[in-house]
Amino acid sequence: MSKKFFITTPIYYVNSVPHIGHAYTTIALDILDRYKRQKGLDVHFLTGTDEHGANIEKSACAQGVTPKEWTDNVSAQYKEMWKALNISYDDFIRTTDAKHEHVVQAIFEKLLKQGDIYKGSYSGNYCLSCEQYYDESEMLEGGLCPVHKRPLTEVHEETYFFKLSKYQDALLKFYADHPDFLSPKYRANEIINFVKGGLRDLSVTRTKVKWGVPVVSDPAHTVYVWFDALINYVSATGLGTLLCEDKAEHEEQLKKIGAQSFEDFWPANLHMVGKEIFRFHSVIWPAMLMALGLPLPTKVFAHGWWTVEGEKMSKTLGNVVNPVELADKYGVDPVRAFLFREVPFGQDGDFSMQSFKNRYNSDLANNIGNLLSRTLNMAAKNVGDLPAEAAAQSATHKRALEVEKAIDGHYDELAFDKVLENIYGFAGELNKLVDEKKPWELAKTDKEAAAAVLLELVCGLRFIAQWIAPFMPGIAQEMQRRLAPGKIEKYAPLFPRLEDK
Ligand code: MSP
Repeated sequence: MSKKFFITTPIYYVNSVPHIGHAYTTIALDILDRYKRQKGLDVHFLTGTDEHGANIEKSACAQGVTPKEWTDNVSAQYKEMWKALNISYDDFIRTTDAKHEHVVQAIFEKLLKQGDIYKGSYSGNYCLSCEQYYDESEMLEGGLCPVHKRPLTEVHEETYFFKLSKYQDALLKFYADHPDFLSPKYRANEIINFVKGGLRDLSVTRTKVKWGVPVVSDPAHTVYVWFDALINYVSATGLGTLLCEDKAEHEEQLKKIGAQSFEDFWPANLHMVGKEIFRFHSVIWPAMLMALGLPLPTKVFAHGWWTVEGEKMSKTLGNVVNPVELADKYGVDPVRAFLFREVPFGQDGDFSMQSFKNRYNSDLANNIGNLLSRTLNMAAKNVGDLPAEAAAQSATHKRALEVEKAIDGHYDELAFDKVLENIYGFAGELNKLVDEKKPWELAKTDKEAAAAVLLELVCGLRFIAQWIAPFMPGIAQEMQRRLAPGKIEKYAPLFPRLEDK
């Protein structure tokens, strides 16, 4: 078996229910997945849920259920959301899966034995929500968490440390040798400077947190949730076969995900993450892999954050956008496409209903939808049956190949916004062609010339249907059905216009 194109989302915390921010990371990866499959790659798309830690214990307690009941429930909600959003993942890992926990324990003991993990004690300022310590230099004035803006808790504990500091030079060398590893570039410098500033060893166990993976050789400790979570990328893909005693079980698991060995997956081609967890993926995780003697992923990409109508999304503000509700109302595909046209991928963006409606009308209803319906209406009158191949030698066909090349280039950069800009731009050019050539008038004097224009439009639309498939799989399929060779039927608009109430 050859190496798969292996791509991952972060695994989502189950301390609250999923919203549009979580959907954003996953849809981005789903788009890439579908595109790469179109190109014939054997993609393996991994997602899942991050289920240990004090926060999750707290959420369960507040609901009066056990952590296990709570995590089962929220993890299932994620799966439902991915189904509703048409996410085509291949594997879903939960950090409470026995196969994952075994690998975490095996890795911990291995690193302990080789001296990359050692026992010590720690005092510091801890944010219970981030599950992370902050230095004086990182804290906000008044000792507040830089993310949650709430007071940090002073914690003293006996803990095991991972020798992160040992990997400082190796990391810097790796970044220098692999300039595409950290992406986008404008986020890479921050990481490089952080590492240059000096790395301190990382506390990787907790004695206060019960809901975690116990350390085998010292069960008073549980493994720090981030150390546990990052391992998902290798535990899900059969690292267990290399580390664990129970080979039969792990071979069984490999079979289930259609692979023969860990090397079919590893190294990952891409870890897609949000900007606030970039550091974990570009410093800690690579150092862990170095300690394990495993190759590093090809790329870590950090996207930006969504606010809603100018505000940070929060339960307290009551402005959390549920993508499934939005999809029920406007269709899942327009929601998927909106998120990637509105904001350059990598940067922060703001969600508002007005901008959603504006984009829907201008990009979809008035542009692609209108082009499809006017072309098919005119073709029904002037062409009759659609041929399998339309206008293969035309200027439109040539132009489409140029656009396709540009699109491929933008995918290489994960510039999803530019991919859509190119697709919508091409649809705009075709609409202009209709306005200029006026096939309905041309048909009165030269039916053949009118048919030729219409077939060019059909040709262009077939390209569009294929290009939009990663973003709007359902719509693309319907477009392809309408454009398939044969008789043209009467169709309802693909994107009914949204009116302002
Ligand atoms: N459990 C960790 C990840 C462990 S990976 C080994 C975690 N989970 S999370 O549920 O908090 O966040 C998961 C993803 O959702 C992150 O990529 C994050 O950036 C994304 N988003 C959550 N809210 C977001 C917005 N408001 N906007 C865009 N994405 C955001 O971190």
